[in-house]
Amino acid sequence: MTVLVTGGAGYIGSHVVAALARAGMRALVLDDFSNSSRAVMPRLERLAGTHVPLVEGDVRDATLLRDTFARHPISAVVHCAGLKAVGESGERPLAYWDVNVNGSFRLAEVMGEAGVATLVFSSSATVYGQPERLPVDESAPLKPASVYGRTKRTVEDFLRDLAASNANWRIAILRYFNPAGAHPSALIGEAPRGRPNNLVPFLCRTAAGEFPELSIFGTDYPTPDGTGIRDYLHVDDLAEGHVAALRYLADHAGALTLNLGMGRGFSVLEVVAAFERACGRSVTKSFAPRRDGDIACVYADPARAQRVLGWSTSRDLDAICADAWRWQAAGGGYEKG
Ligand code: NAD
Ligand code: UFG
Repeated sequence: MTVLVTGGAGYIGSHVVAALARAGMRALVLDDFSNSSRAVMPRLERLAGTHVPLVEGDVRDATLLRDTFARHPISAVVHCAGLKAVGESGERPLAYWDVNVNGSFRLAEVMGEAGVATLVFSSSATVYGQPERLPVDESAPLKPASVYGRTKRTVEDFLRDLAASNANWRIAILRYFNPAGAHPSALIGEAPRGRPNNLVPFLCRTAAGEFPELSIFGTDYPTPDGTGIRDYLHVDDLAEGHVAALRYLADHAGALTLNLGMGRGFSVLEVVAAFERACGRSVTKSFAPRRDGDIACVYADPARAQRVLGWSTSRDLDAICADAWRWQAAGGGYEKG
């Protein structure tokens, strides 16, 4: 079975490629390297123990997609390619709607032509906004608060319409909570360009001396210690969720929407403490105002994924921090090849 992984050179896609290899499935990467490095490919081949073919190009390019489906025996697609920065999405709505929404349209269109009907889509817990009830389950109302979140909700709606239109489609919409950590080999991990937006990569770079301090955004949230609470899950657990979804789709049609999270929340201060334990040094912190657009608290009810896929997380916050730090200590990027 060859699985096309769009965005397969990126943070989550690369871990999906490694998880597919562990499960005995072949991966084909399609990526334009707009937010990743070509140097990930040899590392993926080391992890997979085999050649990992690459198609370099844009997921919106229908001609390239047609050619890719014609040349490779693709039986399923994991669609990770997309733009993902919440703040930037407000400044570049055209780019976000085009890449995330049109990219998904083109891909589904060419899959339809090629007779490939199995698709796993990278959605996000950001589609919930601040949920009224916690933990949040898949039936909660969708109130995305950013352009990025609205592009994800739109693709979700489109994919459910597609599945309703033709019983051949087998679609899993995975709502990721907060993926963090890296592969324990330290061969692949998260390599954000410039100043990281996310907590764990910022902690890594600060502990490594690249930034003088971590700003904790908001200490007056209605949470026990006043800082924001999120559901962090290890990127390898998340990647294995994709494998479980592909196995499920092998004999189930329709569209399935699932939360992928640990099912518990950690505050910023709890993550900082776990990270300091993992790296054995303390990180300088300062308390800053709330970040625009942030919510107080969100964590998943992952019961449906457990029931339907038999999937749940097996790596805890300490493992997330230890693996993130090992990746950082090994360079934290691909520049050195
Ligand atoms: P990433 O930026 O590391 O990976 C995305 C990959 O897609 C990159 O390699 C990039 O080069 C590629 N890409 C971007 N536009 C493309 C295009 N037009 N054509 C071909 N390739 C293109 O991001 P990630 O963290 O791995 O996220 C993967 C997916 O998961 C995204 O769809 C993102 O929205 C979603 N997601 C991520 C998070 C998170 O916290 N990382 C949370 C929820 C959902
Ligand atoms: N935080 C800090 N300092 C930092 C960075 C983050 O205090 O330097 C705090 C945030 O305020 C928040 C928590 O750490 O309380 C987590 O922030 P992240 O930026 O790591 O994660 P978010 O929950 O804000 O966003 C992530 C992804 C989004 C996705 C969302 C879905 O980055 O793409 O999860 O839940 F939409």
